[in-house]
Amino acid sequence: MQTVTLNNGVEMPILGLGVYQLTEPGECERVVSEALELGYRSIDTAASYRNEEAVGRAIAASGIPRDELFITSKVWIQDAGEKPARAAFERSLGRLGLDYLDLYLIHQPMGDVYGSWRALENINKEGLSRAVGVSNFYPDRLVDLILHNEITPAVNQVETHPFHQQVEAQKVMQEYNVQIESWGPFAEGKNDLFTNPTLTAIAEEHGKSVAQVVLRWLIQRGVVVIPKSARRERLEENINVFDFTLSDAQMATISTLDTGSSLFIDHNDVSAVTLLSGVKFNT
Ligand SMILES: NC(=O)c1ccc[n+]([C@@H]2O[C@H](COP(=O)([O-])OP(=O)(O)OC[C@H]3O[C@@H](n4cnc5c(N)ncnc54)[C@H](OP(=O)(O)O)[C@@H]3O)[C@@H](O)[C@H]2O)c1
Repeated sequence: MQTVTLNNGVEMPILGLGVYQLTEPGECERVVSEALELGYRSIDTAASYRNEEAVGRAIAASGIPRDELFITSKVWIQDAGEKPARAAFERSLGRLGLDYLDLYLIHQPMGDVYGSWRALENINKEGLSRAVGVSNFYPDRLVDLILHNEITPAVNQVETHPFHQQVEAQKVMQEYNVQIESWGPFAEGKNDLFTNPTLTAIAEEHGKSVAQVVLRWLIQRGVVVIPKSARRERLEENINVFDFTLSDAQMATISTLDTGSSLFIDHNDVSAVTLLSGVKFNT
């Protein structure tokens, strides 16, 4: 599997599996097990996905050596702050049945983010997570966090797909040596992504699917991808993207699909802060 080198030297697979919305434990365990069989080595979960135990069971059952895996989880807003974030990390580790994580992220740029970041810095220094980072940080919040703390986030996981390409945000991340990671690479199918005529035409030129073209386009931009699928044939399709290359002209054509705005949630919007801050669950 192709990797990217994070700003602290840690190697991260450029493609992994996302497990958002796989809330039924048996299904989540089956999907992660199948993905590991098919060659996936990176799994992206979060405390708020409520499926860390299922992910942990699939990892344990796989028999794959721990150092061949790359496991990510995230701390939710309700656990923001130095002590709560540390405790949340330890609960996640326990649910996953692991001794360490490869990447631990602040899930949303809300609440006591600076307290959370101090906890993550210590988690990283103690070797409990090989890398630490953030998610959904727009450039202003990301740069502020970088300028006023010791450790620069290794990764920023943000909504990135053909209709919201994050070109300017990626430039800022490159300037500060933060790896961009896409969530929602298929925009969860919104805007009829899978039947988009521009993407379909390029897919036909390569004898590939639209999903494969989208993942390939992100990978060629240096974006880490974590597509989610519950179906074995799609898991196989989504990892089979390393045997073709999009031309410069095809990359340029896809760049015209950018709308420059979110299809899900604008983190600069007051309603988003209110909505996300209200999401609470038992941990
Ligand atoms: N940090 C954050 O705030 C945040 C937010 C959202 C997501 N994420 C992460 O990013 C991951 C990916 O994003 P996502 O799950 O929201 O959406 P996504 O990967 O863009 O899309 C998933 C959807 O696409 C379908 N799909 C997958 N492969 C396909 C294929 N080859 N052909 C046709 N349809 C296909 C899936 O259906 P089936 O399952 O039926 O195949 C599912 O409905 C998440 O799982 C999560 O780990 C993070």
